[in-house]
Parts: sequence; structure tokens; C-alpha cells
Amino acid sequence: MKNLLLPQQTSSFLESLFQNVSDAILVIDKSGTIIAVNKSFERLSGYAAEELIDRINLCQVCIGMATCSEEMTCVECFAHRQKMPAFEMFVRAKGGEEFPVAASSTRLPDEGLGALVLILRDITEQQRVERERHQRQLTNYVIQAQEEERKRISRDLHDGIGQALYSILVGLRVVNQLRLEDTVMQHLDEVKQLTSRTLEEVKNLSVELRPSALDDLGLVPAVRSYLKRFEQTFGIESELTVIGSRRRYHSAVETALYRILQEAMTNSAKYADTDQIYVTLEDQDEQIRLTVVDRGAGFDPEHLRIKGTGLGLFGMRERANLLGGAVAIDSAPGKGTTIDVTIPLDERGGPKHDRSIVDRR
Ligand SMILES: Nc1ncnc2c1ncn2[C@@H]1O[C@H](COP(=O)(O)OP(=O)(O)O)[C@@H](O)[C@H]1O
Ligand SMILES: [Mg+2]
Repeated sequence: MKNLLLPQQTSSFLESLFQNVSDAILVIDKSGTIIAVNKSFERLSGYAAEELIDRINLCQVCIGMATCSEEMTCVECFAHRQKMPAFEMFVRAKGGEEFPVAASSTRLPDEGLGALVLILRDITEQQRVERERHQRQLTNYVIQAQEEERKRISRDLHDGIGQALYSILVGLRVVNQLRLEDTVMQHLDEVKQLTSRTLEEVKNLSVELRPSALDDLGLVPAVRSYLKRFEQTFGIESELTVIGSRRRYHSAVETALYRILQEAMTNSAKYADTDQIYVTLEDQDEQIRLTVVDRGAGFDPEHLRIKGTGLGLFGMRERANLLGGAVAIDSAPGKGTTIDVTIPLDERGGPKHDRSIVDRR
């Protein structure tokens, strides 16, 4: 070691360095017995140095390592190698808990007795963050793919089957003008009515899948017509309050709020036993806020009693989270339910903290 220290200072400097670095250091001899540990390793493993040194073999604290090709293998154990610059090792601490560490190993030369030095760093938190990021990315892909698919099927229904049915209807009207026998006319009338009903159903299905108004006109008009259709379907009235003058938002924001509204209102229709829902869309410049309030049956959000798939409230949160927003659920039995969604916005109506990685529009 080249330094400015006197020889007697060097040894205590090295000891202090060994003991105080934040990475855990573990040294084993050729048989795998632990011969030295630093304070960070004591903290990491939960063992005191006296419990480890000369008493415990590496295999009692190491439950395997991961290489690129295999998880938790002992076949390619680093202890048989001169050097492994980077690998993942799984540690079992004194209390029995197991966790991953990023490791590197180096064999000391002969004057160092051929001992193997391991430097370890706990990566539990890093892996949790990485898993969450990956999960978020997947959720985002699924949501986007589902939305694209709905858009495509909705257009196909409207422009394809819808147009074909309309042409059939026009043809039937032409035939209707011919002077035909009464029985044929009666038959024709039935077919016309059936075609007309089917056309209506196809249109509804298309709008239900994804209203073109959401892309063409924006959130507020799409919400207005949704509330109208909702009243016709469920017989539940709704009151919409719109605050703020901005009318268009980023399509991801519009889609998320529309889908959250749909889920919240469907839940009210299914479970709240109410005849009135209050919807507010408030543009607060820095954020957009959607509230859906029913004064119906309510429920205990801490102890959900799932009656359907149970994915609705979860999906609302996922959609809002992906755009850096949040959903607050305020509900109690007998008191009704308030779903309160906020999404922080930038000045162009886009999500301020877009946490999804995929490119949009
Ligand atoms: N507006 C509401 N009024 C009463 N209960 C509700 C309301 N919204 C949700 N719930 C309750 O919360 C549960 C979970 O809702 P959700 O996650 O949408 O799942 P699902 O609708 O598939 O059951 C429902 O099963 C219901 O018990
Ligand atoms: Mg639901």
C-alpha cells in the first residue's frame, strides 16, 4: 500500500477501513470457514463476529447464488474460483430471513493464505423497486393494448357491421315500396324491425366499447353522453358539474378518467341501491379532479366484501397511479360512497408525472 502513513498507522487505518465501509465484507479460508467479518456484515447477517469466526461455514449463511443461466445454484460456486467480479448471492440471516445481495469475490494471493474475500450489498429494496417498475410497465402495456383493441373493434362494429345493417335496412325500405302480397309485407316488416333493433344494438355496443366522442370531442362531451346512456340503462339520474374552462386533455388522461368514471358509476348502480349520482369534473389548473358520489348503501373499504371480480377499485387505482395520480375512496355502510380521483397536470393538459414508460400519441 502506497500512502503517507507511518507503518504503525497503516495497520489501524486498514482495520478502520475494513470495519467501517458500508459494504459487508466476509473472508473465508480454503475450507469455507469464516475467518473475518466487518461490522456491516454483522448488521446484514444478524450474527455477532464471535458467533461467526472459526465457527460457521460459508454454506450456513449462503443459500445459493444466481448466475445468468441458473437461479440459486451451488454448481458454479464462487468459492471454487479465483475471482468473480459480480454475481447475486442469497443470504440466510441469523433470524432465518433470506434475501439477495449483490456480491463480488476475490482470492487473495499466497501471502494472504489464499483466503477468499467477499464483498456484499443488500439489494432487497433495489429489487422491490425494480419489480414494481416492471409491474407498472406491464400494467401499462395491458391497459394500452386493451384500449387500442377496444377502439379497433368499436370502429369495425360501427363502420363495418353497422354500415352493412344500414344498407340492408335501406334495401328493405325500397322493397317495402313495391306492391307485394300482405303476408310478404308482414314478413318484410318483421325483418325490418329486427334489422333496425340489431343496428341499434351494434351502435350501442360500439359506443360502450369506446365512444368515438372521447377521441373526437373530448372528456366532457363523452361524459355527458355516457351519463345520458347510463340513465336510460339503469334508470339512475346523475348530476354533472364541470368547473374550469379547459376542455381537452392528453388522451391518456381523458381515457383514464372516463374509464374510472364508468367503473365508479357501474359500482353505484350494482351495489349502492340509489337513484341519484353526483359527478364533478374540476380543472384546478395544476390537477384535474373527478368525484363520483352516491348516497347509497356504502361499504367498508378496509374490509371489502367482493361481489364481482374485485378488479374495479384496483383498476381505478392502477390507471390513476400510472399517470402520477391517486384515488381516494371514502365510504361507510349506510353513508354512501365518494370516489375522488386527482391527476396532476402540466400546462398542456398532459400528466405531470407520467409513470408509464411507453410513448403515447
Ligand atoms: N358505490 C358502491 N356502493 C356500495 N358498495 C360498493 C360500491 N363500490 C364498490 N363497492 C363494494 O366494493 C366491492 C369491490 O368493488 P370492485 O373493486 O369494483 O369489484 P366488483 O365490482 O367486481 O365487485 C364491491 O364488490 C362492493 O362490495
Ligand atoms: Mg366493480
